[in-house]
Amino acid sequence: MLKNFEGYFDRDSEEYKLLLEILKKDLPSHIAIIMDGNGRWAKKRGLERIEGHKAGINAVREIVETSARLGIKYLTLYAFSVENWKRPKKEVLQLMGLLKRYLREELPLLLKNNVRLRTMGRIEELDATIRGLIHHVERQSAKNDGLNLNIALNYGGRTEIVDAFKKILDGYGENLTPSMIDESFISKYLYLPDVPDPDLLIRTSGELRVSNFLLWEIAYTELYFTKVFWPDFGTKEFLFAIRDFQKRERRFGGV
Ligand code: FPP
Repeated sequence: MLKNFEGYFDRDSEEYKLLLEILKKDLPSHIAIIMDGNGRWAKKRGLERIEGHKAGINAVREIVETSARLGIKYLTLYAFSVENWKRPKKEVLQLMGLLKRYLREELPLLLKNNVRLRTMGRIEELDATIRGLIHHVERQSAKNDGLNLNIALNYGGRTEIVDAFKKILDGYGENLTPSMIDESFISKYLYLPDVPDPDLLIRTSGELRVSNFLLWEIAYTELYFTKVFWPDFGTKEFLFAIRDFQKRERRFGGV
């Protein structure tokens, strides 16, 4: 994968040294991120919260590109939770506006980097323009076989499990029997059943919570917390997180 970074970093840079180090070991195949701290990043600079979200998009772009170059297979980003509707109406509208802009403008770069974009969450509750854009980007990028970029939108971990139960009942009705239900059966009804569980979950901004993200899927995921606010989370921070992950011993309940 080193060749994918040709001309990307200065050979003397810390990023390049980190890159050489992490490429010696297996990389996580699925990384999930709670992108937190946009508001505080803006406040620290005396800016409106929306400026933090805008800067957050630049961080998204950088982490998506770095993940694609590293050959990471899955990257799942928490962009809007089912709880985020509780924010002031103005901020919700601004976030939806940014999302539209991202979906409109990002397609060429996603295609160039061989990224397949999909969403997970209650998409049917979003406005028609966003649904249309999502559909377009999902379709246009469907054949890409590099990085799978999953954007969690109007997403909640508990909601995902509730929706799985609903799909199961819709499909089976009275034919459902207890012996049919096991973990792999339930997993098949989650939003993106083909995506493996995350190996690593990163949360920025110093909060030590999971905040209803991927509750079912993170049962054995390694957690990494950093105090860095999301807009400041760049490639160097990302490589730090991966290096930390590589030092862990994963036992999955065994010895
Ligand atoms: C948390 O920061 C961030 C969000 C609720 C939204 C994340 C959205 C983006 C990075 C932009 C859109 C993303 C995509 C993929 C197009 P916060 O507002 O909770 O920050 P705070 O805790 O400091 O207030």
